Amino acid sequence: MQTFDDIKALQSTLATWRREGHRIALVPTMGNLHEGHLRLVDAARQHADRVLATIFVNPLQFGPGEDLDRYPRTLVEDQRLLTERGCDLLFAPGVDTLYPQGQSALTRVSVPQVSEGLCGAHRPGHFDGVATVVSLLFNLTRPDVACFGEKDFQQLAVIRKLVRDQHMPIDIIGVPIARDHDGLALSSRNGYLEIDERARASQLYQCLVDSGRRLEQGEPSEQVLTKGLQQLENAGFQPEYLTLCDADTLYPVNTWQPGSVLLVAARLGSTRLIDNLSFPS
Ligand code: PAJ
Repeated sequence: MQTFDDIKALQSTLATWRREGHRIALVPTMGNLHEGHLRLVDAARQHADRVLATIFVNPLQFGPGEDLDRYPRTLVEDQRLLTERGCDLLFAPGVDTLYPQGQSALTRVSVPQVSEGLCGAHRPGHFDGVATVVSLLFNLTRPDVACFGEKDFQQLAVIRKLVRDQHMPIDIIGVPIARDHDGLALSSRNGYLEIDERARASQLYQCLVDSGRRLEQGEPSEQVLTKGLQQLENAGFQPEYLTLCDADTLYPVNTWQPGSVLLVAARLGSTRLIDNLSFPS
């Protein structure tokens, strides 16, 4: 697998692939890859002939005081994992390559409504940063398909709306959450957890499962969500939200039915974790 950090080399390979009639899939990441990312590569392979992954720790989507500086950068190991998984090409540009004019004057992309609640309310500007870099990557690489994880459920909803609103001819594939043996959703940020925190972290998933079961049994959603937040606090989390939403609009709903999803975000020590559970199909 080749790695490019410049746009010309990338676009020349993509042009060759297109001339040869290949369908191209894009897998955007911020690196420090784990099995969750690699499942996106597998999904991409199923929907296209050529798989392009990107690694770019996007400063635009980190707020002041967030973990931009300590975000793990593990390019050599990432290249090894992508090669093993059969990825065809990696684009890993520097900040100056993607944002040559700097960040302050950069044209921004903003996706209203679906960006505003949940993580958007707790991380102002985050989804504008995501939508800006993803639309830039889409324009640079013009993929036929792009794969995103359901782990970042709101991000996936934002990108689906971005593509719909901008009439971009790209199929967006949502890939199920990859979990550790105890249910904790895999995340690059799990590496920040202290040993005792890691032991408790699966309570986040457990809270979703327990809340889902209570909803299934017909308990009123308000009561279920209050108990769920209490369960998280008892396990040492500082919850940001636990909400039952419509999976497309992410507006809060009261009924647990096809098309609804439970979404949670909570801090454990200095680490912010998110997870979600969809109504079983
Ligand atoms: P990053 O956090 O590196 O995640 C890259 C992709 O991997 C996202 O689509 C994310 O949802 C998916 N992913 C992460 N953990 C997963 C898991 N446990 N199971 C399934 N999929 C998982 O998300 C970003 O980067 C950035 O915001 C990005 C889209 C690259 C824009 O900068």
